[in-house]
Amino acid sequence: MTLESAPESSLPTDVTALPETTVTAGSEWWRSAVIYQIYPRSFADSDGDGIGDLTGITSRLPALKTLGIDAIWLSPFFTSPQKDAGYDVADYCDVDPLFGTLDDFDRLEQEAHRLGLRVIVDLVPNHTSSAHQWFIDALADGPGSETRARYIFRDGLGANGELPPNNWQSVFGGAAWTRTTNPDGTPGQWFLHLFDSSQPDLDWTNPWIREQFRDILRFWLRRGVDGFRVDVAHGMVKVEGLPDFNPPAYDPNSIGNSMSQPVDVPYWAQPGVHEIYRDWHKVLEEFEGDRVLCAEAWVEPLTMLANWVRPDEMQQAFNFSYLETPWSGSRLRAIIDESIEAFSGVGAPSTWVLSNHDVIRHATRLALNPPPPQGEGIGPRSEIAIDEELGLRRARAASLLMLALPGSAYVYQGEELGLPEVIEMPDSARQDPTYFRHHGEKYGRDGARVPIPWEAGAPSYGFGPTAASWLPQPSDWDRYARDVQAGTPGSTLELYTLALRERATHGLGLGTHVWLQGYGEDVVAFTNGTVTVIANTGTVPVELPVGDIIVSSEPLSEAALPADATVWLTTRA
Ligand code: GLC
Repeated sequence: MTLESAPESSLPTDVTALPETTVTAGSEWWRSAVIYQIYPRSFADSDGDGIGDLTGITSRLPALKTLGIDAIWLSPFFTSPQKDAGYDVADYCDVDPLFGTLDDFDRLEQEAHRLGLRVIVDLVPNHTSSAHQWFIDALADGPGSETRARYIFRDGLGANGELPPNNWQSVFGGAAWTRTTNPDGTPGQWFLHLFDSSQPDLDWTNPWIREQFRDILRFWLRRGVDGFRVDVAHGMVKVEGLPDFNPPAYDPNSIGNSMSQPVDVPYWAQPGVHEIYRDWHKVLEEFEGDRVLCAEAWVEPLTMLANWVRPDEMQQAFNFSYLETPWSGSRLRAIIDESIEAFSGVGAPSTWVLSNHDVIRHATRLALNPPPPQGEGIGPRSEIAIDEELGLRRARAASLLMLALPGSAYVYQGEELGLPEVIEMPDSARQDPTYFRHHGEKYGRDGARVPIPWEAGAPSYGFGPTAASWLPQPSDWDRYARDVQAGTPGSTLELYTLALRERATHGLGLGTHVWLQGYGEDVVAFTNGTVTVIANTGTVPVELPVGDIIVSSEPLSEAALPADATVWLTTRA
């Protein structure tokens, strides 16, 4: 047993020291890729207006190369009134001036590819913005028109159409229907919006819509993108006739997630969506290279989600069941087994994810038992005591476990810095439509979206050249700044960097996990090739086998793995 903790890394901090690589045709790179989610408004701001932009991202790509990721996924940067932080798209084929121009995008993509990083963009097909020309035309043209048939307009119920056409609820709160006003001022038809009223749902039974989206895909594929993350990929097709949804036991708050469908919801996970993805699969095949579709589909169980990644559909789907698994050895072992079995059953890799822009950051979430349901968020009035140190310790252990698993892993910007959820955010600063549609009763997702710190002591921690930040940054974030952590042994940034480098060296993403026997309930222990991985979710130290430590989430001072820690080691026979 070698007792030193992970070798001090000799990681390059200067990008000029990095070999220049370019993205090659590479076969099925996505099977093992580590994909880094950039939330453009909060990543890097080049012009100092407090909102991140594409030029800012380009300037910071070297840091991501140094981190060791394979691809970036950019949350929406398209033309949008930003009612849902860009998930309300008014033009799918242009860049919102807030973020820059199409030329800026081309420069970003070119630089990413030069560094060997693939680029995935976000496609939002379930709904447009109400500011999209299609919707403006639909409102102007009136009932029965071709343009109305692009969306889901219906007459209301009741003597004067004053009641919504059915009882569906918006994911963000309140009714999923909004009544229109006719040009003469009289009340008109209703339109469906599963999210905010500024996000009308498209009618995917309309072939015209299908044709438009094929072209939108081609537009970005021609620009050279490596793939698409598909927003709400389980919601585009609704049950014919739009029947009421009212199973007696249904309570959207009790199932942990209003976007999941453990019961038969007439707008989630309808079989008709698969035809669309088979069609898109063919569109991607029109282009050279290895392009991907990744489903954001909150679908359970995983055997059902696996239908999204059948060989002629998408390549990947986010594994939210894994994200929602608490820090428990037995629960983690079970979900890892379930994931690998379900996805390999259709020949797809499993994905792994712990954080994104819609959930409480895992450095905070893993200290909460149980965490609030997805989307609800936490804030000053939540009355939850949070042990920040415990959360970070578990997050580091959970990330190290995740990065050892075979398949593709998603990392959300800032998790490599150990960022916690921002809880002390004043109500006046909140922006998430969830907060407003629930009249402040739910905080929503802003706490995970705060601009990230790059440089200690700098205005906006180096997020931009000024102190401006669209969501306020906490006053004590110097300690999380990238420049403070870079080169500091034991920092979360160094942990991720080392883990990513070793993951690549040992080929873990394409490996096979084999459970190790003889460990207790609270322990997750397996081999992946020549690497032994042990995670201790319990309180009692776990004796380690003889071997050389590759990386560990906590310093190891004796031949034991402490509580809430993960280690990778090469065991000796
Ligand atoms: C997805 C996005 C989320 C957005 C919603 C509506 O869940 O990740 O941020 O609010 O779709 O587009």
